[in-house]
Amino acid sequence: MPKVLIATEKPFAAEAAQKIKAELDNAKFAYTFLENYTDVKELHAALADAEAVIIRSDIMDEAAFAAAPKLKIVVRAGAGYDNIDLKAATAKGVIAMNTPGQNSNAVAELAIGMMIYMARGKFNGKSGSELSGKKLVLYGFGFVARYTARIAKGIGMEVYAYDPYLANEIMTKEGVKPLSKVEDIFKTGDYISLHIPATADTKKSINWSLLSLMKDNATLVNTARKEVIDEDDLLKTFAEKKKFRFVSDVEPGCAAELMEKYPERTYYTPKKMGAQTSEANTNSGVAAAKQIIAFFNNGDKTFKVN
Ligand code: 3PG
Repeated sequence: MPKVLIATEKPFAAEAAQKIKAELDNAKFAYTFLENYTDVKELHAALADAEAVIIRSDIMDEAAFAAAPKLKIVVRAGAGYDNIDLKAATAKGVIAMNTPGQNSNAVAELAIGMMIYMARGKFNGKSGSELSGKKLVLYGFGFVARYTARIAKGIGMEVYAYDPYLANEIMTKEGVKPLSKVEDIFKTGDYISLHIPATADTKKSINWSLLSLMKDNATLVNTARKEVIDEDDLLKTFAEKKKFRFVSDVEPGCAAELMEKYPERTYYTPKKMGAQTSEANTNSGVAAAKQIIAFFNNGDKTFKVN
């Protein structure tokens, strides 16, 4: 009877937790939930007898793996797995997986929602603008970007994308115009939405060399990781481009300065909440449980990332 820990500092919706339990009960796996923990020591203690762990943005670093001697598999219920130290996992013989696509629609809806919020001046009662007819450029064309494109097209936006790792046909099939250079993203978009992972190559890659190319009234939308943006250059962009706006699904490091100097042109969620819907929690949590069951029962390693 494999023992699964569901460790979520930011808990799944109750409905999702029920469905994860049902999946594990059905497979006769044992499980414990650790939710809303405030100290990483609680996570480390809970990992002591876990053979599998389901996490969200919870940190699985070297210390966490060291605290988990029985661990065979960690599944990030979500897309980005920059919170898992893959080297440490591999060194300990632990399989790491994510659940790609499962929470993407929720993130896409938030990206569009934040665009509308800014276009309408944060609902301040004054005359704003519409998204229809505007150019949206997606940097990266994974699941979130594809869902965002579908909604944006429904609204009447002209949608472009750039993804150096994908064939152009994948974009054209979705009715999205491919761009061939990273610079074109920033030159073209009225709205520029980031959908790139946080890696050694992408961290701080959204810097002045790209931001300076933007239209003066462009809006930058970040539902990816805050680390991909060079925040000194972000502040410079606010200072130089007087109509530039920025929305982010996570509090940026320079939040205090942004709110003090540019409150009307900034919005960020207090806590990352792109994937915080009951549906996304259910999809990604249940997928994670199923992946763990398939791994123990059949050796299935689909979605392994290390
Ligand atoms: C992801 O990478 O899937 C999203 O950023 C969601 O993260 P969360 O599970 O912490 O909300």
